[in-house]
Amino acid sequence: MYAVLLIAVVLRGSFAMPPADKDACDLYGAVGQTMELPFVYNRLANTDVLRWTHNGTIIFNREQTRVSVGKPEDVSKTGSLLLKNLKLSSGGWYQVTVRHPNRTLVTMWTGRLCAMDKVSQPRLGYICDLRTGFVNLSCDVANPHESFFSWTVDDVNLLGATKQTLNVSLDREKSFACRVRNRFSAERSDAVRPACKTPAATAATPSTLFCFTPKTIIAALAGVAALFLALLVVVAASCRRCGRKKTRKRVLGKGDLGMVSVRQQRSDIVPRGEPHC
Ligand SMILES: *[C@@H]1O[C@H](CO)[C@@H](O)[C@H](O)[C@H]1NC(C)=O
Ligand SMILES: *[C@@H]1O[C@H](CO)[C@@H](O)[C@H](O)[C@H]1NC(C)=O
Ligand SMILES: *[C@@H]1O[C@H](CO)[C@@H](O)[C@H](O)[C@H]1NC(C)=O
Ligand SMILES: *[C@@H]1O[C@H](CO)[C@@H](O)[C@H](O)[C@H]1NC(C)=O
Repeated sequence: MYAVLLIAVVLRGSFAMPPADKDACDLYGAVGQTMELPFVYNRLANTDVLRWTHNGTIIFNREQTRVSVGKPEDVSKTGSLLLKNLKLSSGGWYQVTVRHPNRTLVTMWTGRLCAMDKVSQPRLGYICDLRTGFVNLSCDVANPHESFFSWTVDDVNLLGATKQTLNVSLDREKSFACRVRNRFSAERSDAVRPACKTPAATAATPSTLFCFTPKTIIAALAGVAALFLALLVVVAASCRRCGRKKTRKRVLGKGDLGMVSVRQQRSDIVPRGEPHC
């Protein structure tokens, strides 16, 4: 019985708490910006005790015109706080209290500030799913939190497409771009025309295939170059071996059985002939 009551009390307590989720900010500021926290108390007197806290830590305190924490110029005549050169760590809860000299509370204000970076330019990547016939586009951005996405197909806005990924049918030979926006800025990706159906690629990988973004093209070129090198090395090695065989033939000792058997096989095919490279 008591347990039930206790749980009910705890639940009520947690519901009464200020909303702590990410989206519940009273103010938003961009990193690098200067902003003033909107607290206005027109009857602020010199004798009042004015105190600002950030995340519970006192960052400004003034009593009888004496400033013990912070700088006098950070606070306006009406008590608002000036935040210069905002950083990500400037985010969080701010509270201001004004008290009479006898410590009774006159007024207070509490607000949550969210500080955020401007968005970076997004990169459009995609994965072709040849099995289902769809291509999964994704709008990759450094910090996707609190960002809004939109998509264009051949420069026309795609209505309703507001997610970070977009799944479209493979047979649309169109050019796609995505746009990312937060409260302070917006950036657009380069336009990308997904190239999924190359016959060679289809033969090589029947189901899923990573497509040709510049990165994969470079990787593929590097792979081809590496193969070429490997081939060169093999050819060079076999030629050298072959040359060695030629010289060894003249000075053949008793030791090298492997060499002999090879030569025997060869001479079966090409009697008395020199080995060909
Ligand atoms: C204040 O708290 C927020 C989270 O609520 C955090 O992002 C920020 O870095 C904190 N800043 C300081 C100076 O404690
Ligand atoms: C504190 O001071 C204010 C103004 O000086 C006065 O109005 C108030 O009644 C005082 N409160 C107490 C508890 O003394
Ligand atoms: C699309 O691919 C991304 C990875 O690039 C993945 O996180 C996402 O879940 C995929 N979307 C769908 C709808 O499958
Ligand atoms: C894309 O959508 C199609 C049809 O709705 C579905 O079959 C396929 O699995 C989806 N692909 C991805 C990557 O979500």
